[in-house]
Amino acid sequence: MNLRLKFTLSVSILLLLVIFFVSYTIFSAQKNFLTLQFEEDRVRSYRFFFHSCEEALKSENDNHIVSIIDSIVSIQKPAIVYAGYVSEDKNIFTSRDDRNIGSAFVLRIKKVFSPKTDSYESITGEHIFEYAAPIMFGDKYKGTLVVGFSQDYMESLIQQGISLIYKQIKAVAFIALILGIFGANFMARQLSKPIQLLAQAAKKIGEGDMDVNVDVKRSDELGVLSKTFNEMIIKVRETDELKDGFVSSVSHELRSPLAAIDGYCDLLIEGVEKNYPPQQQLKGLKIIKDASIRLTNFINNILDLAKMKAGKFEMKAGPVFVDEIIREITLLFESLAVAQNKILSFKLPQSMPPIYGDSEKIKQVVTNLVSNAFKFTKEGDGITISAMISPSYGNDFVEIWIADTGIGLSKRDTEKVFEKFYQVKDSEFKKPKGTGLGLSIVYEIIKLHHGRIWAESELGAGTSFKFVLPIRS
Ligand SMILES: Nc1ncnc2c1ncn2[C@@H]1O[C@H](COP(=O)(O)OP(=O)(O)OP(=O)(O)O)[C@@H](O)[C@H]1O
Ligand SMILES: [Mg+2]
Repeated sequence: MNLRLKFTLSVSILLLLVIFFVSYTIFSAQKNFLTLQFEEDRVRSYRFFFHSCEEALKSENDNHIVSIIDSIVSIQKPAIVYAGYVSEDKNIFTSRDDRNIGSAFVLRIKKVFSPKTDSYESITGEHIFEYAAPIMFGDKYKGTLVVGFSQDYMESLIQQGISLIYKQIKAVAFIALILGIFGANFMARQLSKPIQLLAQAAKKIGEGDMDVNVDVKRSDELGVLSKTFNEMIIKVRETDELKDGFVSSVSHELRSPLAAIDGYCDLLIEGVEKNYPPQQQLKGLKIIKDASIRLTNFINNILDLAKMKAGKFEMKAGPVFVDEIIREITLLFESLAVAQNKILSFKLPQSMPPIYGDSEKIKQVVTNLVSNAFKFTKEGDGITISAMISPSYGNDFVEIWIADTGIGLSKRDTEKVFEKFYQVKDSEFKKPKGTGLGLSIVYEIIKLHHGRIWAESELGAGTSFKFVLPIRS
């Protein structure tokens, strides 16, 4: 059974129960109300009867009381079945034309000194409710007045009253139920549709189709869920792209040096057999050496990163002279700057305190950042390496930054570049050379040194990678 049907059924059953309960309550309240009303009517007519008889008795005229009994009974028939008066000296004055008189009435008349009521079934099977009360003139007992009301007649009137209400309640309940079922069905559709869309989208993702978007424009929880779902799809898509990028980078980084090694090995074998000139063989050996260094670096990078992420990297800690490292690296890259026609410079204060950390790792950080700066700048661009006691982090930190006037980064990319294998796809560098591991390694090394790294950039206007390191660990 689907969600929509389940919801409609549950709401309809609930509605049915509520309608039943409300109808029953209205119905029994109405019945009680009608019963009370008829009982009050009965008391009122008995009182009227009693006062009329009292007045008649004052006139000491027996015919008068008979005609009152007669007229009241005939007017109020069939509500009043019988009425009668038994005088002190046992004379009985009754309503005429009453078949019960000989049985019920006469038998039931007793001397009564206080008002009494009684219910009984007459010999004709009729249910009677009887009032009996003494008529007193001062202290003097004059007789008893008895009136028998038909309980069956009153019940039939109540029945008539409530059957009308019953019909009305039935009609209203039916309309409410139909409206309720339609409403529940509509609501179920409203609720189940986005869930259905989400389920379809999730199924597509499960089948490997990442090109999905759940189009639900609502401000409630389902809207929030759909929005979060869409955001999640974007993340999954990015991760998927990253995975593809990773696979292609890794396979490229492994395949190209291996291909070089393989090719030049063949060439060397052939060279030995055919006695190629030693310069040519030396060139091949150098290429093999470079390729194996590239392979080793790549594998080391992956292993280092895994170790650092797992917290298993052991630092060779000691004093690190950042200014010396910067001078050394500038020297190393000088020839490349000349070759690529780029301006490499550094800015250092007169003296700088050493920091505490792993010197080789700090060198790796600066090297990675400078090599990136070379990679993402054009001819004629400038690269500056600077260091100073951090102005914003106080005297306990040194701040180092590598600024270039290269292609720059978008705001979003300044945060993403530190992710593993992330590389910006730029129109100029569609697929930048490298694996996208450099900055992740840098990030992890800085983290190990309890420092912080970030990038400040503007597209087309260059990038500045800045990091701070505590002087004491
Ligand atoms: N100075 C920079 N200017 C512009 N973009 C940069 C700069 N430095 C890094 N990036 C961007 O950040 C990405 C990630 O850099 P990262 O150093 O992690 O990888 P990579 O240089 O591509 O490869 P690897 O360092 O593993 O050889 C780069 O591919 C590039 O898109
Ligand atoms: Mg790099």
